[in-house]
Amino acid sequence: MPEQIELVVNGQARTTASAPGTPLLDVVRGEWRLMASRFGCGSESCGACMVLADGKPIYACTTPIDALAGKAITTLEGLGDEAHPHPVQQAFIELQAGQCGYCLSGIMISAKALLDVTPKPTRAEIAAALDGHLCRCGAHARILRAVARAGELMAERGVDV
Ligand code: FES
Ligand code: FES
Repeated sequence: MPEQIELVVNGQARTTASAPGTPLLDVVRGEWRLMASRFGCGSESCGACMVLADGKPIYACTTPIDALAGKAITTLEGLGDEAHPHPVQQAFIELQAGQCGYCLSGIMISAKALLDVTPKPTRAEIAAALDGHLCRCGAHARILRAVARAGELMAERGVDV
């Protein structure tokens, strides 16, 4: 019987019997059916698959599941939902920061990671944090503004968001 790998995903204990070496993204989408994280390039070139592992952004398309045993994984579903959006999600909706939306899950994950350590980032800091993300649409300026706005909303709501 394959060895079970235990993780915490969006605050809930999860196990998988996926073979060592299986990319986290395959487990997240294919097994756990958390569909927000996207496959774009499969080679750490687009950021569409970004999730948090113990609060740090990682590429789910290339990170093997067995390297993550015991870690806390956060996907976009773990930030909030339609009824209770995280300030990052709220700001992106408010500013309509996106067009097709394909890239946005990963971008919002990196935005959260940035704002958790840098609550009032400069435009340059936001751009640097999103440097690993590709967006094929023309939403770049609005995305930068949305991250800054999310920082304001987080400050308004307090740290417990
Ligand atoms: S799908 Fe992971 S970086 Fe593009
Ligand atoms: S909004 Fe379409 S790729 Fe970013």
